[in-house]
Amino acid sequence: MSNKRIYLCGFLIAGPVVHSHAVWRNPKYETPFLKLDHYVSIARTLDQGMFDLLFFADRLAIADRYGSSHEMGIRLGDQDATRMDPMPILGAMAAVTKHIGLGATRSTTYDAPYNIAREFSTLDHISSGRAAWNVVTSMNDGEAQNFGAVSHLGHDARYDRADEFMEVTTKLWDSWDEDALVLDRAAGIYADPAKVHYINYKGSYFQSRGPLNIPRSPQGRPTIIQAGSSGRGKAFAARWSEIIFALQPNLGRMQSFTKDVHAALASAGRPPTAAKVLMAMMPFIGATRAEAEAKRDLHDSLVDPRVGLSTLAAHANADFGDLSLDATVDEIASTGSQGNLAALRSIAGDGAMTIGDAGRIYGAGVMCPRAVGTPDDVADQIISIVESGAADGFVISPAFLPDTFDEFVRHVVPILKARGFLPSQPAHGTLRDRLGQGA
Ligand SMILES: Cc1cc2nc3c(=O)[nH]c(=O)nc-3n(C[C@H](O)[C@H](O)[C@H](O)COP(=O)(O)O)c2cc1C
Repeated sequence: MSNKRIYLCGFLIAGPVVHSHAVWRNPKYETPFLKLDHYVSIARTLDQGMFDLLFFADRLAIADRYGSSHEMGIRLGDQDATRMDPMPILGAMAAVTKHIGLGATRSTTYDAPYNIAREFSTLDHISSGRAAWNVVTSMNDGEAQNFGAVSHLGHDARYDRADEFMEVTTKLWDSWDEDALVLDRAAGIYADPAKVHYINYKGSYFQSRGPLNIPRSPQGRPTIIQAGSSGRGKAFAARWSEIIFALQPNLGRMQSFTKDVHAALASAGRPPTAAKVLMAMMPFIGATRAEAEAKRDLHDSLVDPRVGLSTLAAHANADFGDLSLDATVDEIASTGSQGNLAALRSIAGDGAMTIGDAGRIYGAGVMCPRAVGTPDDVADQIISIVESGAADGFVISPAFLPDTFDEFVRHVVPILKARGFLPSQPAHGTLRDRLGQGA
């Protein structure tokens, strides 16, 4: 391959919407988002279509911040109206795919390190080294209340806890030496106890004795994905992650985000290649530009701005239901994701963005930038972003399912291959090998 390799990831939520809140309203057919076949068939498409990874974003509560009620989110179907647990789905996907990495989101604020270490070790074994964990610190009070807390931990405290969570899980994954399994059937020796270690971890948030009750998995530990976008979030990502997922609405913000990530990696003593930065992108692909624009317009016409506001309120952990749709987004006080609100303000540029506009943008795609046009147009746009150094690849966010992935794999992937940005055959080995990051 002569050109810079582009990495591709498919974005999913195990529910009716993704970034696009119109997914379940596909005019062509019902989207069977509660059925396993739906997900398994998407996984097959992406696996055969040279995607490196797919992952499920996730959250642990319905959204009821907007107007302090679940009325809007449940009635209109916001991002949190339904989210099934991704792990069983990934197990089924592992059975029918060969190459693609399989990622789930799990929270360091509401999960326990021992459970997480087991889940990802299991997924890594049964997928022969393709497990990935999108590490999140969670966002809002609804999630806190589902786990017995009154309100969400403070922003930086969540990341302190997350650092400790990673230390514990890493020690658990390392608690079995690579050669601890003996499997001497004739002598009846299963494993070497000297190579299986107690970890005796005692920190401020967690204690765990260990060892894990699963032998070391093919990757040793799952490939780590992270998507925090605040300064503290980037420092955390620079310390732990191998894939950084970002949603930046335009090229300028992509470039400065990636520059910041490279600086944070340097401060953590890691080279810029240690973590691949993948940017969210929502393609609308047509045989002609007019056809692609018509698809986009149809999609956007299916989005009610109030459904976007319900999701935005959950992301921002803020109830701005009493603010008029003509008020500006500057009036929203966030205690949730700071990065997302900053991006929203930046779209407005010098002009003020109203809350009504924010609802439309959020509902249509949570600010995902778009590539609208023929397959060549879409390929050109994503190649130019990678060539500018703003990203190592993309998290492709579907407008409709399975349509967007089918179209991207059928029409754009062959162009990327022909132009030398994707290998002609899938690489062998684990997900981490495929990312060129070794074990
Ligand atoms: C692009 C992007 C995707 C995210 N996906 C999830 C998710 O699926 N589930 C979740 O609980 N948090 C998700 N988050 C939240 C972050 O992981 C993080 O907990 C939150 O943004 C607060 O950190 P920050 O202020 O550093 O952005 C996402 C954030 C961003 C920017």
